[in-house]
Amino acid sequence: MGRNGVDRDRYQASQSCSDRFQGAFGAPRAEREQQFSKFMEHLPLAVSIKDKSGRFLFANEFMKDLLAADDPVGKTLGELLPPEEASMMAVNDHQALTQGLLLIQNRVNDTYGDERIFETYKFPLPMPEKRTLLGSISVDITERKRAEQALALKQQQLEELNRSLEQRVQQAVDELRQKDRLLIQQSRQAAMGEMINNIAHQWRQPLNNIGLIIQNLQLQYEAGEMDSEQMATEVGKAMDVIAYMSRTIDDFRNFFHQDKERQPFVVNQMVSRSLDFVLPGLKNSGIDVECREEPNVSADGYPREYMQALLNILNNARDVLLERKVKQPLIRIAIFRENKRSVVTIHDNAGGISDDVLPKIFDPYFTTKEQGKGTGIGLYMSKTIIEKNIEGSLTARNVDGGVEFRIVV
Ligand SMILES: Nc1ncnc2c1ncn2[C@@H]1O[C@H](COP(=O)(O)OP(=O)(O)OP(=O)(O)O)[C@@H](O)[C@H]1O
Ligand SMILES: [Mg+2]
Repeated sequence: MGRNGVDRDRYQASQSCSDRFQGAFGAPRAEREQQFSKFMEHLPLAVSIKDKSGRFLFANEFMKDLLAADDPVGKTLGELLPPEEASMMAVNDHQALTQGLLLIQNRVNDTYGDERIFETYKFPLPMPEKRTLLGSISVDITERKRAEQALALKQQQLEELNRSLEQRVQQAVDELRQKDRLLIQQSRQAAMGEMINNIAHQWRQPLNNIGLIIQNLQLQYEAGEMDSEQMATEVGKAMDVIAYMSRTIDDFRNFFHQDKERQPFVVNQMVSRSLDFVLPGLKNSGIDVECREEPNVSADGYPREYMQALLNILNNARDVLLERKVKQPLIRIAIFRENKRSVVTIHDNAGGISDDVLPKIFDPYFTTKEQGKGTGIGLYMSKTIIEKNIEGSLTARNVDGGVEFRIVV
């Protein structure tokens, strides 16, 4: 056994010894002393008694090991330990003698050069004739300390792992969101071609109007009916139409900007702006639109993205109504509040979606349109916008001879 190591055999012996200790108090004095000295010999703790000047009066086997001295009795700390250790112990001894029980932790290098940690109790022993001695008991707590340190280290590693895991998950989520946004932006740009078509429809009428106003001016002038008041009225009319056309372009341009942050918006406004975009085209194809709305239904999210979802659904309805050559094609829109949330339903009368197709319509790149006519991104994108970005829901069901899309935000 090393200078400070615990001898397992001795420890076990001491346990069985303590069993036998029972009943020892009834034994004769000589036997009791023998039992006591055996007890001290096998005790797995270092025990010593010193006098006031630091001279050892008693040291059990464990303490002898600790001091690496066969017979420390009669010697002082200074004679047994390196000077630094000795003087530190002397300070502790003095404190215990003058102030009472002292508990300290000290580190000692054993004979193998390994550091061991001890917990030491020092306490005054009052003796007859006002003499005071110093008792000391040291317990080797190295293993316990190591276990505590290992546990703390594991705890720390676990916390670090958790932190970095959280960070990695957040990063992955951010990247995915970023990709979604990018896709939304791209699909919006893809919608540009369609939009230009819509603008063409939207401008046909006002351009005609301006043409008529100019022709009128000419006719009135030639007929000599043109006074300054008349002129102002006609110019005013033309300016109104031009303002309307310019607004259309602004709306169009605005739509292609990205939403920067969440914001409250009025759902009715988004529906009506979306209709502004598509209505001329729908009318041109003979499709009727009915809108039933509660006023001022509000929601919170990304209004342009929300509009993009509406437009995807409206365009799909138009496509299917034309593709299936529906007689009296009709799109019905309803805007209302339900359980404190905004609801928009868009219904068409094109005959609905078959049961095997319905579960797939929100999948990316799922389309039933012939090649070149559909990418299958529209509804996937709309679902991403409504459910992931705005945290609402977008669902579809067959009802009343067509499909009803339902957006809840
Ligand atoms: N109102 C509807 N009635 C019947 N089927 C529909 C309706 N809306 C969508 N679908 C079906 O869902 C499919 C997926 O629609 P989605 O908008 O995602 O893609 P797409 O319209 O085919 O192509 P894209 O919108 O990318 O140009 C469509 O191909 C169509 O089969
Ligand atoms: Mg589509």
